Amino acid sequence: MTKRNPHLARLQKSYLFPMIHQRKQEYLAAHPGVSLISLGIGDTTQAIAPHVVEALKAASERLGTQEGYSGYGPEQGDPLLRKTIASHFYGERINPQEVFVSDGAKCDIGRLQLLFGREARIAIQDPAYPVYGDGSLMQGTTDIHFLPCLPENSFFPQFDRSLKVDLIYICSPNNPTGTAATRAQLQKLVAFAKEQRAIILYDAAYAIFIQDPELPRSIFEIEGAREVAIEISSFSKIAGFTGVRLAWTVVPDTLQFEDGSPVIRDWSRIMTTLFNGASNISQKGGMAVLEPQGWREVTQQVAHYLENAAILKQALESKGLDVFGGVHAPYLWVRFKGRNSWDVFQEFLEKLHIVTTPGVGFGPSGEGFLRLTAFGLRPQILEAADRITNFSFS
Ligand code: MLT
Repeated sequence: MTKRNPHLARLQKSYLFPMIHQRKQEYLAAHPGVSLISLGIGDTTQAIAPHVVEALKAASERLGTQEGYSGYGPEQGDPLLRKTIASHFYGERINPQEVFVSDGAKCDIGRLQLLFGREARIAIQDPAYPVYGDGSLMQGTTDIHFLPCLPENSFFPQFDRSLKVDLIYICSPNNPTGTAATRAQLQKLVAFAKEQRAIILYDAAYAIFIQDPELPRSIFEIEGAREVAIEISSFSKIAGFTGVRLAWTVVPDTLQFEDGSPVIRDWSRIMTTLFNGASNISQKGGMAVLEPQGWREVTQQVAHYLENAAILKQALESKGLDVFGGVHAPYLWVRFKGRNSWDVFQEFLEKLHIVTTPGVGFGPSGEGFLRLTAFGLRPQILEAADRITNFSFS
């Protein structure tokens, strides 16, 4: 009889967002006709920008002609897109061969773990995007340290020298707390990684939401990061590509394993073996995002989401609640001191008819918090703000 991968048994039965979806469906089944507002999963809602749609259409049509048809492309991505990503986001700091285009940041986070094997000692921000922890458990990793991120430490971990780790997951602007790491915090992180000879897995999927030029949008803005960091990013939240699928990971050629071998060589081996390249249509869409007209259009969409965040933040604060994030990120992290996150989630669902995400779903330090996403259509955001303003919180 075939044995089950024992590592899978260490996971919770269901991933966080399907669990929330199920609660929502159960509620709707019991209360048909209720108008629920979804501020749970961070899924984009604005239609794809016109300049980008034209490129997606043209790419599809080209595939329908014999001259324009193409099959498999390079697994690492279209060379022109790699070059454009390198110059657009990293200037001179990263060269195109270090950019690997893919179908999603989440998928890359999963595949990256193959680089290190189950012996790696891992540090994860707590709370954190669940894929870091769940993905590590699936690989059979047992040495996982959760670093509490709370208002008291400005939601950024304290790196204690006694902590011995090989990998450090950092997400900035952070999902779920909505806070962006400062330059000084990232300098300390890079120094710590150097000292430990550890690798930072830096998730920058929300970097476009950073409004303050003093706050780094990439770990590679920090001196020395090329020797200690991998950065993962995505078009999902930049351009509404959560369904289109397009992302990239940067592995500097200066990053080495303990034995001196280049990490990029193994990453290339993994990608060329387990991945056949991102969709050629999506990649043309990605190129259009990075053209001046496309970039203007997506930047306006990001501004719209940030206005949504400001509307929700004001409503929540008017009730005397502590609200974090929502300025350089599309997430609001709301404190309900002393309360159980799932109870607050249920209260929002049943009394306000708003779907949220319970903070504890992102880790133990998320207990007592609720996450609200600002990815919503404006009328719904205004309606949610209205419901919050008119509600008496216990
Ligand atoms: C979230 O809601 O945390 C994210 O949107 C989920 C994802 O990006 O996979």
